[in-house]
Amino acid sequence: MLPQEIIRKKRDGKSLAAEDIAAFVDGLARGSFSEGQVAALAMAIFLNGMNRDEAVALTLAMRDSGSVLDWSDLPGPVADKHSTGGVGDNVSLMLAPIVAACGAYVPMISGRGLGHTGGTLDKMDSVPGYVSQPDKSRFRQVVRDVGCAIIGQTADLAPADKRFYAIRDVTGTVESIPLITASILSKKLAAGLQSLVLDVKAGNGAFMPTIKGAASLAQSLVEVASGAGLATTALITDMDQPLASAAGNAVEVANAVDFLTGRLRDRRLEEVTLALAGEMLLSAGIAKTHQEAAARAGEALASGRGAEIFGHMVAALGGPADFVENHEKHLPKASVVRPVLAKRDGFVAAIESRQIGLAVVALGGGRTRPDDVIDHSVGITALAPIGAQLAKGEPLAVIHASSEADAQAADVAVLDAFSLDDAKPRGRRPVLRRMAIDA
Ligand code: URA
Repeated sequence: MLPQEIIRKKRDGKSLAAEDIAAFVDGLARGSFSEGQVAALAMAIFLNGMNRDEAVALTLAMRDSGSVLDWSDLPGPVADKHSTGGVGDNVSLMLAPIVAACGAYVPMISGRGLGHTGGTLDKMDSVPGYVSQPDKSRFRQVVRDVGCAIIGQTADLAPADKRFYAIRDVTGTVESIPLITASILSKKLAAGLQSLVLDVKAGNGAFMPTIKGAASLAQSLVEVASGAGLATTALITDMDQPLASAAGNAVEVANAVDFLTGRLRDRRLEEVTLALAGEMLLSAGIAKTHQEAAARAGEALASGRGAEIFGHMVAALGGPADFVENHEKHLPKASVVRPVLAKRDGFVAAIESRQIGLAVVALGGGRTRPDDVIDHSVGITALAPIGAQLAKGEPLAVIHASSEADAQAADVAVLDAFSLDDAKPRGRRPVLRRMAIDA
């Protein structure tokens, strides 16, 4: 069918047949659909939605637009996690080695920061020498030998999504549940996983601010993944405050290593990380019950095996062999480090997490244009959590900046993001809901 006929069909609220969708994805990948035609169809889908069958067909066609990895030579289950993105969300760095320590293989293909949210790939790129874009054979070797490898997206995985995402990004069509679903799942299916756990964030630092919106996205992801043959569970987790007490790149890596070694373990971060680890072990078939999964994940962390595997992964991908023991020596440091002081006594009642993320971007830790070079050393640490009681003059957070002027601007932004109150707030649990299609 001609591109304009496919667009008209969706414009008029009709369902697209699998052949229409296949023709569109082929046109996306080969460039035979013009940018205008792709944008028009994206807007028609944005406005009129897609049913499950259409979303499954779009996901599978995008998966098949490039190569699909095959891990059948590995002697254990292949699992991964995807987060819809947040602030201070360094869970992947701990989760991959913890789950690998329990016997799963975790080929984690991660993305760069998007908007105000940080990206796992940017965080790993703060480790000197770490090769985050290895060739396929090195990637396979590290996953096989170590149990996990955190790397960046390769050009041959779901290339149709790359073009589609870039056009959606500039045509106001990103926030469409079927399009987000197909975009995320096509890349995960191309990575050859046997099971997937999704961390769908809800709150003022997430793309989906409400639990209702996050639940609709989670439902769509779980149903479409199941329709595409990928066992998937989703947790909806709180993003109404940064998850770790650090936000930035090197500072989040340091926070993750300290978490693994037990030197500093943020409580909410621990709850989310172990909940996701438990879900991964259950869906990978490594544990039979939630209790068993929790016990195994907890043991992998407490025994230091997770820290050890993280260290092996860093070394196998070119980073320092003593990274876990001496990360302070290796990670880049900002030249200006200074606290943000509370202007009054009180309890931390609310944190505008998006503003914290934007403050990191403004410090140079994120991008405002796709080709921007980021400064891995900058960020914010020691972020006080909701419920913390502070006296006037005590630190709300510590800023790491490359200049006094940047530190001053971040100070204003952080003060603005925090609300202090006389009454102790109730605060939300970090894990809000679980969604799965149980067989
Ligand atoms: N992340 C993705 O990979 N794709 C989307 O469409 C949105 C977030």
